[in-house]
Amino acid sequence: MSKVKTAVLPVAGWGTRVLPATKSIPKPMLPIADAPAIDYIVQEAVESGIKHIILVTNRYLRAIEDYFDENPELMHILEKKNNQKLLQRIKSIENMVRISVVRQPSPRGLGHAVLMAREIVGNEPFAVMLGDDLVWSESAPCLKQLIDVYDETSASVLGVIKVPACDVSKYGVIAGELQENKLTKVTGLVEKPAIHEAPSDLAVIGRYVLSPKIFDFLETTLPGKGNEIQLTDALEALLSAEPIYACEFSGVRYDTGDTVGWLQACIEYTMRRPEFAPAMQEYFQKLQLK
Ligand code: G1P
Repeated sequence: MSKVKTAVLPVAGWGTRVLPATKSIPKPMLPIADAPAIDYIVQEAVESGIKHIILVTNRYLRAIEDYFDENPELMHILEKKNNQKLLQRIKSIENMVRISVVRQPSPRGLGHAVLMAREIVGNEPFAVMLGDDLVWSESAPCLKQLIDVYDETSASVLGVIKVPACDVSKYGVIAGELQENKLTKVTGLVEKPAIHEAPSDLAVIGRYVLSPKIFDFLETTLPGKGNEIQLTDALEALLSAEPIYACEFSGVRYDTGDTVGWLQACIEYTMRRPEFAPAMQEYFQKLQLK
């Protein structure tokens, strides 16, 4: 049994890259096919063995915690309509997993958001999942692939993908040595480097399995890129105490925090659903913009 049972979901970002869609709804509530992005993230967590989700929110984001709470009025309406299919689906959301909520009082960066969960996480390894990143995988869920590496190595694991040079400045980028077991042993990290400063083309996406030791380093991490307390900087500091591995997981990653990435996710997740695919295919065949 894996020791990784808790996942921290920092969801308090403003979603500035997808405004005005996120002006009055939280970014993780943007729909992908027929469910909000957060539903897919929590499903991935549950399918990876996570038992407890900690949402790091702010005072404007009540809609996210409400999504996982009971809604007796809605259930009553669906019962009256005898819509069993939807009743089951809604019940499954409400019973998905145990959810706790902590607040980040002011937006001081991803590292600071993760630190807000310290007391609830305690002294156990934990996952961090960022709401912008959806990963579709035909094999094991992305987070499960990382948890398997943690269970093997007892060291923090970062989900990474290869990105084109022109995109390195959007990500935390690692330096490292590829090992025989296909993992990369991380030797350094830089948050959003300029092209000529990037140590490699391996970018960290929003899936991490972290040792609780990271909290000690987050406590003392000073504001970095964008004047925010960066998780990447705390990870770079953690390297002085513990090893970190990077794993090129198998799966397709979507950046739903970007308008085009979000639209791609909407189309591809819809096309993968047997109940929607035929109508979508017919639509694309006939599509002619006037
Ligand atoms: C955050 C992290 C960055 C990481 C990225 C993945 O940046 O700071 O290291 O590569 O998520 O999506 P953000 O996109 O929140 O600015």
